[in-house]
Amino acid sequence: MNRLEDKVTIITGSGAGIGKEIALAFAKEGAKVVIADFNEESLNKTVAELKELNYEALGVKVNVALEEDVNKMVDETVAKFGRVDIVVNNAGVGDNMQAAANVKDETWDRVMTVNVNGVMRTLRKVIPVFVENGGGTIVNMASISGLTGGRGGLAYTAAKHAVVGMTKNVASQYGPQNVRCNAIAPAHVETGFAATMTNVDEFGMEVATRGVNLMPKAGTVQDIANIALFLASDESAYINGVTLAADAGWSAY
Ligand SMILES: NC(=O)c1ccc[n+]([C@@H]2O[C@H](COP(=O)([O-])OP(=O)(O)OC[C@H]3O[C@@H](n4cnc5c(N)ncnc54)[C@H](O)[C@@H]3O)[C@@H](O)[C@H]2O)c1
Repeated sequence: MNRLEDKVTIITGSGAGIGKEIALAFAKEGAKVVIADFNEESLNKTVAELKELNYEALGVKVNVALEEDVNKMVDETVAKFGRVDIVVNNAGVGDNMQAAANVKDETWDRVMTVNVNGVMRTLRKVIPVFVENGGGTIVNMASISGLTGGRGGLAYTAAKHAVVGMTKNVASQYGPQNVRCNAIAPAHVETGFAATMTNVDEFGMEVATRGVNLMPKAGTVQDIANIALFLASDESAYINGVTLAADAGWSAY
């Protein structure tokens, strides 16, 4: 089980939820993992769990919305491991399902700052490191809301579409330099994500969930980690710029 032997991997938002499972799955496959999260408690807990299992892990407290934190995350990784091979841009926040007529500036700004600017800043910092090393692999966490229109609020849908666009742009422009950039678009996955939403927009929630009964089943964090592993490993070497729907066929209807 060495699909990522010695690959130095930064995973944002990996203190909990999908990101944590990706860190565990990657470490099991031989990766050296950097747990980058702004929640210090869950970050330390995840690092301790990984070390307990004899995996190599570094914890970095980072708010991906802040440029200095993102830069520190990459610099500390290079200082500790000498390189970066893989980045999983997973950190993201929800938008309380606010529909267009109800969207609040504060929500819009938070969602864009974390879900879009955070990804952009990480790309901007890490791509030169990849190019200098001869290449690298990026996995972005989009959402089914990045591929469809009516399954989330306005800000989240716009932000995840931006993630899908950045994925294609980077793949297209840096593919010739051996940089691969793909994304995952999960439907519903049981994590603490829903619980982080407060003052949910009633109208937005109602219209965004009209088709939920057509979703065959929710995904598990392991389902998403398996896809991330495939996209991060050489098994997907000929894939660049795609966003894979991980939704049991929900959006195929
Ligand atoms: N859970 C779902 O149903 C679902 C569906 C589609 C897409 N996604 C996407 O998957 C990703 C992970 O979601 P999850 O369900 O694991 O969420 P989660 O809330 O369980 O975990 C998110 C983690 O990211 C961290 N985080 C949040 N903002 C951060 C920031 N600014 N800087 C650094 N760390 C930050 C949190 O502390 C937490 O540890 C997100 O991008 C989300 O949009 C989730």
